[in-house]
Amino acid sequence: MDLRNDSLDQLHEDLANANMAPTWKYVSEFVAREPKVSYRPWLWRWDDVIPLLMRAGDLITPERGAERRSMEHVNPDLKPFYSTSHTIATAFQLVRAGETAPAHRHMAGAIRFAARSKGGTVYTKVQGERLMMEENDLLLTPTGTWHEHANETQNDIIWLDALDFPLVNMMQASWFMPGEGQVCPDKPDDYSRRQLGLYRPVGTGGYPESHPVLRYPWVEMKEALLNASKGPGSAFDGTILEYVNPINSGSTLPTMSCRAQLLKAGSKTKAHRATSSTVYFVIGGEGVSIINGSEFHWGRGDVFVAPTWSWHEHHCKGEDAFLFSITDQPVLQMLGMFREEALEENDGHQQVASRFTP
Ligand SMILES: [Fe+2]
Ligand SMILES: [Fe+2]
Repeated sequence: MDLRNDSLDQLHEDLANANMAPTWKYVSEFVAREPKVSYRPWLWRWDDVIPLLMRAGDLITPERGAERRSMEHVNPDLKPFYSTSHTIATAFQLVRAGETAPAHRHMAGAIRFAARSKGGTVYTKVQGERLMMEENDLLLTPTGTWHEHANETQNDIIWLDALDFPLVNMMQASWFMPGEGQVCPDKPDDYSRRQLGLYRPVGTGGYPESHPVLRYPWVEMKEALLNASKGPGSAFDGTILEYVNPINSGSTLPTMSCRAQLLKAGSKTKAHRATSSTVYFVIGGEGVSIINGSEFHWGRGDVFVAPTWSWHEHHCKGEDAFLFSITDQPVLQMLGMFREEALEENDGHQQVASRFTP
């Protein structure tokens, strides 16, 4: 080529033909001064979505795949990914009295939180161990573990699922395996709890799973929260506790940290933001969270999402309120990408510009 007639336009065209991109032209599209977040905060009211789930209860019969009678909380900005935040997908699942589901396993790690349960013999069996589901209990289904469920009671159960499949799909590492018949030898109830505790039967060896298979009963978490609430708590979150992995004392799952928090009657937290996203489920109480200047009013059973880098603060309106939440913070921490900051202006409170309506 005759370089005397070269031009920048010609170079850009030739680069495109060579499947190269000029960094000087596009750098702002892949490196930004602040996190570029592609989705907004959102809230799903229990009273709006549960009637839909109950209709599915009648229409999605066992013949029509009742083992997947669950409904995803799809952020309107993340529709192609069926996800709630960019890394976490939550859903409500209804399992009717007497229903069972065969075992399967997958790369995505999952947790289950029993949103409505009357207790009894209703469980998810993980790696052969039955984990019972009393109301507000948390159950883990770590990556690659076999799981199936059964509701042997006379009552429906509704649980909240949270999966890391948006992250797994982003890594293009997803797989799914259906099970046939008995996939694992049965373990006694409370097997993991006993193996992972301070005392275990002599001669049983170490814990055989790479991740803990656990149920965290709400009665224990609630008691721990009430005890912790005698202390000062966090300026941003009130009293907040993490569900801990007892093998390494790390986060609940490698990809998701589950937390429960108590916001005292009438309390107001200050605003902060972080390079992590969080999905909240309201266990009980009423309040309003201000997320990026918009009021999100919530009550029992509602689900809402605070995206990455969104300013958020919580105001508890009436009696003490309890929130359960799932965050991708452990992923950011593992990668050295976790950053957090407090709002300095206005004594740490946002100016309210709008009120969210779905
Ligand atoms: Fe599953
Ligand atoms: Fe927070």
